[in-house]
Amino acid sequence: MYKQLEQRGMDSPPVNVGMLRDMKRAREPIACLTAYDASFAQLVDFSGADVVLVGDSLGMVIQGLDTTVPVTVNDMVYHARCVARGLRRAFLIVDMPFMSYTTSTQALDNSVRLMQEGGAMMVKLEGGQGQVAIVEHLAQHDVPVCAHLGLKPQSVHKIGGFKVQGREEQAAHRMIDEARALESAGADLVLLECVPTSLGAAIRDALHVPVIGIGAGPGVDGQILVLYDVLGITQGRMPRFVQNFMRGRDDPLEALRAYVHAVKTRAYPAPEHTFS
Ligand code: KIV
Repeated sequence: MYKQLEQRGMDSPPVNVGMLRDMKRAREPIACLTAYDASFAQLVDFSGADVVLVGDSLGMVIQGLDTTVPVTVNDMVYHARCVARGLRRAFLIVDMPFMSYTTSTQALDNSVRLMQEGGAMMVKLEGGQGQVAIVEHLAQHDVPVCAHLGLKPQSVHKIGGFKVQGREEQAAHRMIDEARALESAGADLVLLECVPTSLGAAIRDALHVPVIGIGAGPGVDGQILVLYDVLGITQGRMPRFVQNFMRGRDDPLEALRAYVHAVKTRAYPAPEHTFS
């Protein structure tokens, strides 16, 4: 009946938000991957990844769209529910899609759906100064939040493409201020996408909560990649930070274990995966 208490005694108990914070303090890199269905979620869990994200990248890699903009809350709930069934140990974060958190009330209603129907343990939203009050509202209602900064794919039509963010000094300072404000508002995790290595490290140092990077260099607390990129399934031109771990291997679980090992030993990301 008290499953949580029983699990605490396991060799590898399920990851929780406190353990992620401890890993930051201990400087143990946090290995994260996306997943969108139960079978792959199980493989990712077996690989030893600490965090699984049901990203709205599912719009691109599952639904074949050009951007994440058309993804809906119903899509996220469906895929989150599938993924949750495949997990034993990894911590489950689920993306709030475009326009699903425009007001505090809407954000709370939708995060409740992602948690109650989808099994999310934390929700992720693309944030900035404009989302501080929303994060505060969610935190006041005990909804764990990850704030996504840097390149925010839901803003692709506003920023005019998928580009490295925070290269100019003023933009870098603004991002550090936003990260601090979101942490003060109650964010439990920050995800940084496509920023120069120096800015990734500066944001990591400025915060008490863990900072997970994708194209944010080696100076952050953890790394995340899109599962289909790691397994070499995605075709066409890849972003600079992607490494195909299937290359030279014929077993997907072995490839995922190699990714987790590379993150834990800081072999990934290498200099060729970073931005300056
Ligand atoms: O949607 C997603 O998969 C993400 C990753 C790029 C981190 O947000």
